[in-house]
Amino acid sequence: MSDAQHAVITGGAGFVGSHLVDSLLDDGFRVTSLDNFGSGCPQNLAHVDSERFDSVEHDVREPFPELGDVDYVFHFASRASPKDFASHAVEIALTNSEGAHNALAYARDHDARAIPASTSEIYGDPEVHPQTEEYNGNVNVRGPRAPYDESTRFSEALAVAFRQQYDVDIRTIRIFNTYGPRMRPDDGRVIPNFLSQALQGDDLTVYGDGTQTRSFCYIDDLVAGIRAFADADLEVAAGEVINIGNTEEIEIRELAEVVIDALDADSDVVYEDLPEDDPQVRRPDITCVKKLLDWEPSVSLKDGIERTLPHFRDDLGSDDY
Ligand SMILES: NC(=O)c1ccc[n+]([C@@H]2O[C@H](COP(=O)([O-])OP(=O)(O)OC[C@H]3O[C@@H](n4cnc5c(N)ncnc54)[C@H](O)[C@@H]3O)[C@@H](O)[C@H]2O)c1
Repeated sequence: MSDAQHAVITGGAGFVGSHLVDSLLDDGFRVTSLDNFGSGCPQNLAHVDSERFDSVEHDVREPFPELGDVDYVFHFASRASPKDFASHAVEIALTNSEGAHNALAYARDHDARAIPASTSEIYGDPEVHPQTEEYNGNVNVRGPRAPYDESTRFSEALAVAFRQQYDVDIRTIRIFNTYGPRMRPDDGRVIPNFLSQALQGDDLTVYGDGTQTRSFCYIDDLVAGIRAFADADLEVAAGEVINIGNTEEIEIRELAEVVIDALDADSDVVYEDLPEDDPQVRRPDITCVKKLLDWEPSVSLKDGIERTLPHFRDDLGSDDY
């Protein structure tokens, strides 16, 4: 067994998790991914060629297997696409509650640092803009997004509980919309939707009138922020909750034009009904993370789309889709 620090990542075969695996391996960590391959896939890790890496098929709703000494537990397992919120509602709710419990208990039992992923969805359809960490949000507990939003809120409360009762070093990251290579073309989130539609010569579907806004963070920026937070000194980061995202806010109808321009596509934009509880605005206040970690995003939306495109071209050309 090597002396390298050991990081366990739940959801390591997913979009964010697989990039985190790469970053940790690059920095000499031993890494174990626990994933049930529900929305992620082994293909996302097929490029990894390291003796320091292990991929274990495991559902985090079940207690974790024994993996020896563990220094970090990154909890990034959860379907995150609104497309899955109805069809996999119970699985999502339990992954963010029982799964979070298993991850936090594992960190406690191994005296490890826990870094759970939370989401900007915990702000619901926000009445405060941009969203600061102090804002308590406006989630509809009876709405169609509740299984994801409310269970993630619960996972944050569970983190508070583990810190209060067991003094576990927990650092929670509220991730705002992030995109990049390895998102599935049929993932259902807006950038994969637009890129897939434009590449296939279809019209781009905008829900509502397209004036709703989002702020999109490129995956490399997110991973740099996660790593800086995870590696920060105990007195700086333990028990903290931070927003990570890009502050470049854009209307969804403008985003459609950015994608059409980037591909020089012939597609038009078509409008369909806005789903219930779709947030009208979404932009992180990142004052806290800038001060705490000296981190800020550096990849513009235009550059990020260009970096993401080859992946979608390859995937849509492959037999897997
Ligand atoms: N990408 C974003 O924009 C974004 C925004 C906010 C929060 N997040 C959070 O980041 C994390 C990762 O999201 P992502 O975008 O990479 O999604 P993803 O669907 O690509 O990855 C999630 C991974 O978790 C795995 N998984 C799901 N349920 C599981 C279970 N019960 N047991 C084991 N594995 C399970 C999936 O198979 C997949 O590999 C999630 O917690 C999500 O809520 C992501």
